[in-house]
Amino acid sequence: MNNTDIIITYEKQITLSNCISPPSSKETVAEIIKGITSTPRYIPTRFFYDGTGSALFEKITGLPEYYPTRTEKGILKENAPVIAGNLADTDIVELGSGDCSKISILFDAIPSERRTGICYIPVDVSRSAILKSAETLSRKYPEISIHGMLADFLKHLSNIPSKKRRVFCFFGSTIGNLDPAQTSHFLLNLGILMRKGDQLLLGFDMVKDIVVLENAYNDTLGVTAAFNRNILRVVSNLISADFDPEHFDHVAFYNSRESRIEMHLKALKDLEVESPFLSSGITIRKGETVHTENSYKFTRPRISVLADEAGLRLDKVFTDDNHWFSVAHFRK
Ligand code: AVJ
Repeated sequence: MNNTDIIITYEKQITLSNCISPPSSKETVAEIIKGITSTPRYIPTRFFYDGTGSALFEKITGLPEYYPTRTEKGILKENAPVIAGNLADTDIVELGSGDCSKISILFDAIPSERRTGICYIPVDVSRSAILKSAETLSRKYPEISIHGMLADFLKHLSNIPSKKRRVFCFFGSTIGNLDPAQTSHFLLNLGILMRKGDQLLLGFDMVKDIVVLENAYNDTLGVTAAFNRNILRVVSNLISADFDPEHFDHVAFYNSRESRIEMHLKALKDLEVESPFLSSGITIRKGETVHTENSYKFTRPRISVLADEAGLRLDKVFTDDNHWFSVAHFRK
């Protein structure tokens, strides 16, 4: 499926293609039931991001303990002239475009007369996120054309248009939510899709001091705890269950064997959970946990291995003084 809408904003035409059929509620329900009845129990990470969850994540990115967003933006600012030098006359495909503040840093480094040949293609599963970023960018950079794609970058990579040389951007270390097999698979597919001359800018959160890592997911204001608990509200609504987020503790720690932060929700007492989609209620014992997220951390050698696996050349790794975050530049 691939419907294209035309949206007029600030007297400018923006096109939006749709590759996704909304997952039937049946599929969604089955996925949630499977997770919460598994041993150990889990909830798929994508359920974090309803309206409230997205707003809480936005708040997380501004917390003093949460260094990734700030550090990545600093890296982009510091190296914008070099990075932006590769962007003239390309199609820029941003996967998981979010609030478009990162791509803006790069656009700001391109003189407006050289922005004219650029087409910006935000790819996201949220229609409202794409429209919001398209509007913001068309106002700030009227000379850039915009073609949004309502798509899941894990499934619809090949639906992304390619008229010119392309630069794929995937910021925020969102890739850290994938497990190593999914990461290799995703990069291999992207490597196959890319043609000679195409580029990839990929943000990686790096392995570092455990205290720094764990504090970033255990902020003193409790915003990350609220973000974690919110996923129970989201799935409760979807399966008409009665999970009470207040009966769970936020748990986040670094698993050094797997190089990842894990987030869990831990039951504070024995709980009965009922849902019309469960043949009988489930009992969650006091102390039992529900796994909600993995956030993998990377090293420079690991980034090189990923490049080799995907058949890409690792051109340059931009980083900050502490080496806390990296933006890697790959070429085919
Ligand atoms: C959006 C996946 C990059 O893993 O750091 C922030 C999500 N979870 N705090 C991350 C998140 C808890 C974030 N990513």
